[in-house]
Amino acid sequence: MRILVTGGSGYIGSHTVLALLEAGHDVVVIDNLANSNQESLRRVGEIAGRSAEFLQVDLLDETALDNAFSSQNVDAVIHFAGLKAVGESVEKPLYYYHNNVGGTLNLLRCMERHDVRTLVFSSSATVYGASEEVPLVEKLPLDAVNPYGRTKEQIEDILSDVGAADERWNIALLRYFNPVGAHESGRIGEDPTGTPNNLLPFVAQVAVGRREKVMVFGNDYPTPDGTGIRDYIHVVDLAAGHLAALDYVHSHSGVHRWNLGTGKGSSVLEVLAAFSAAAGHEVPYEFGPRRPGDAAVSYADPSAALADLGWSAHKTLQQMCDDHWRWQKENPLGYSS
Ligand code: UD1
Repeated sequence: MRILVTGGSGYIGSHTVLALLEAGHDVVVIDNLANSNQESLRRVGEIAGRSAEFLQVDLLDETALDNAFSSQNVDAVIHFAGLKAVGESVEKPLYYYHNNVGGTLNLLRCMERHDVRTLVFSSSATVYGASEEVPLVEKLPLDAVNPYGRTKEQIEDILSDVGAADERWNIALLRYFNPVGAHESGRIGEDPTGTPNNLLPFVAQVAVGRREKVMVFGNDYPTPDGTGIRDYIHVVDLAAGHLAALDYVHSHSGVHRWNLGTGKGSSVLEVLAAFSAAAGHEVPYEFGPRRPGDAAVSYADPSAALADLGWSAHKTLQQMCDDHWRWQKENPLGYSS
């Protein structure tokens, strides 16, 4: 197939583009490079031995987007492009709704005009909000608790309506848990701009000496060691989940929802121990107050993805940290190293 990947030069996008190329698909990436670097795709081309086509297009520019569809004869779309910083979304909600929801509406209109109705959407476990019920299952009501999460929830609602209105649409909504790690080559990985919001990139920057210590957000949660528990999933396993979902929706119409997680939770202290083992030295940390809006425990029930797609995550927390560390050590300043 020829697949259009929005946001394909970003962290999860670039790993998925690599998996698509390795599976024999042709890939066209569109990205506005707002939070990514085209170097990721150059390296993906090196690893795969062939390249994705790249078009610098912003989803808010519907004319440019339409031109991309006219010039590329695509069969399906994987839609990653979007803003994703929770704190920033609280400060600039209009910017988030306009970009994420508005950009998706433009994409869907272009897809319809060009008769492309197969879509895999990058959603997030954040749509479950502060649900205390673990493991999280797809049928839980959605209840995102911040503007970023609500953009994901609203896009899921829009896609559900679109799929219900016209059975020619084939749509997968993939709810990611906590993507971490990097391709085992150490050539591509997560390259956050500014201070990382998420745990693993922060820990990695401390381990490589770019930051002094990790602040552990709370050690008084009702968990065995008092720190928050999350379902970390290796980005290469996550990328494989996209290919499985694409295969499925290619032959099944309607709107389908799957959690992509391991089903296993790890605490912040377990992550720090695994990362210290990967780096060969202790990663310094100290305990601080809880971060507002954080749940104590979040992990997936990934059984629907296994039953429907035959997909499950295989890589361990230690492999995630080993691979994340290899990428960070060999590219201490990310793609601008
Ligand atoms: C966060 C976002 C979520 C988003 C997800 C993936 C919030 C409230 N939630 O989820 O919407 O979908 O990232 O991008 O921001 N931690 C520390 N110190 C740090 C960073 C994190 O102790 O410097 C802890 C957190 O309290 C949490 C765990 O590490 O227990 C993981 O945090 P993080 O990587 O930010 O992911 P989520 O909180 O799951």
